[in-house]
Amino acid sequence: MDVCIVGTGYVGLSTAVGFAGHGHRVTCVDIDPRRVNDINSGRCPIFEPGMDGSMKSSVGKNLLKATLDLKAAMASSEAVFISVPTPCDDDGRMDTKFIDKASKDIAGNLSGYKVIIVKSTVVPGTTENIVKKNLEAAGKELGTDFGLCMNPEFLREGHALEDFLRPDRIVIGSTDKKAGDLVQKLYDGFNAPVLRTDIKTAEMIKYASNGFLATKITFANEIGNICKPLGIDVYKVMEGVGLDSRIGPKFLRAGCGFGGSCFPKDVQALLSKGREAGYEPKLLETVLETNAKQRKLMVHHLKSKMDLKGKRIAVLGLAFNPDTDDVRESAAIDTVQGLLEHGANVIVYDPKAMENFRKVFPGIKYASSSREALNGADACVIATDWEEFKRLEAKDFKEMKNSIVIEGRRTLDRNKVKSFEGVCW
Ligand SMILES: NC(=O)c1ccc[n+]([C@@H]2O[C@H](COP(=O)([O-])OP(=O)(O)OC[C@H]3O[C@@H](n4cnc5c(N)ncnc54)[C@H](O)[C@@H]3O)[C@@H](O)[C@H]2O)c1
Repeated sequence: MDVCIVGTGYVGLSTAVGFAGHGHRVTCVDIDPRRVNDINSGRCPIFEPGMDGSMKSSVGKNLLKATLDLKAAMASSEAVFISVPTPCDDDGRMDTKFIDKASKDIAGNLSGYKVIIVKSTVVPGTTENIVKKNLEAAGKELGTDFGLCMNPEFLREGHALEDFLRPDRIVIGSTDKKAGDLVQKLYDGFNAPVLRTDIKTAEMIKYASNGFLATKITFANEIGNICKPLGIDVYKVMEGVGLDSRIGPKFLRAGCGFGGSCFPKDVQALLSKGREAGYEPKLLETVLETNAKQRKLMVHHLKSKMDLKGKRIAVLGLAFNPDTDDVRESAAIDTVQGLLEHGANVIVYDPKAMENFRKVFPGIKYASSSREALNGADACVIATDWEEFKRLEAKDFKEMKNSIVIEGRRTLDRNKVKSFEGVCW
């Protein structure tokens, strides 16, 4: 099938590369000329394990290309996916400006029947109240000129392609059977259950999933905060808890709080949508408040050990998760901010996310390796559990002035490094 994907970030590009790998002909559309150029030159514009090779291979087979020209891309496509950003606005509500603009652009270039599919995470009502309305405002008729679907994406950055290709489920919300069937056909050959719903339900499934996962992490963190002063290892506790098949072992790794491009803004947007609907979502509010406190704990623990003013503090791990270059809402941002506020001299290192972090903190020192960051440091904070940090040994910390190490994630090998303190263990 011929597919057009509008917005080629982590989700759009994974969708494009994934569908091209299944033999569909995919045209990516973006407003960023550098991104378009990178894709056409076979250079992956984001860091994602496995993406580079798969993207290059599909570009080479003429199954994947990118353009700035939406009209040309849409002309040859039966399905048009929207995967543009949906951040929160200053009031904590989902900001609709990217979806609004993309759907107006699509409406202005629509000719012949096409199915328009929202893949961005959007609060219930958005697909029908914004995308459908924009198409209708351009004189297009639902069912005749276009079909409408909502197909949420559940991938994790760092595992984006693998998650897209092997999802736990495929959710397709549609206004009518014909449009939903076309989207389902695109996923032929994927080995996953397909859930067909109406549009609003599909939109809500994504928020409910992220809200639940964020709550599960926050619960583990809270138990960790209780365990720490009692001298109990929360990781052993959660191993015992996770063996319960009603609970499961995932998302129980206690640490310095969730971040990233999805959980914080999606929980916030769901909270705002709930309030707008006349309900006060207390649980979601508490999850956000508790997480915000958790993200400040590493600096708090460090401060209880030393006056940070003028001290050289190494921060290892800047991405919000390992195996990604994405720093949006990463724990390292709160940590570096807190350290700077207390007058520390901060030196940071990350295997892949330094370029993105530099856009947030241009004025701090960037080391070219963990060892360089640790050399002469008064203390170290580990904020992301990259594999390369798991290999650090006692000798790597020897060059520090004081061997004070605060772990925000369970990273270090307990047999190799003894003098550390976990954020909640
Ligand atoms: N990143 C994730 O892990 C993830 C997972 C599931 C769902 N989502 C959701 O998917 C959506 C996209 O997220 P992302 O992380 O891929 O975003 P991103 O910021 O990585 O990429 C968005 C892309 O859209 C482009 N864009 C913006 N407006 C455009 C327009 N009018 N026309 C064409 N291109 C345009 C931008 O240039 C950018 O390349 C969001 O709603 C997000 O919540 C993200």
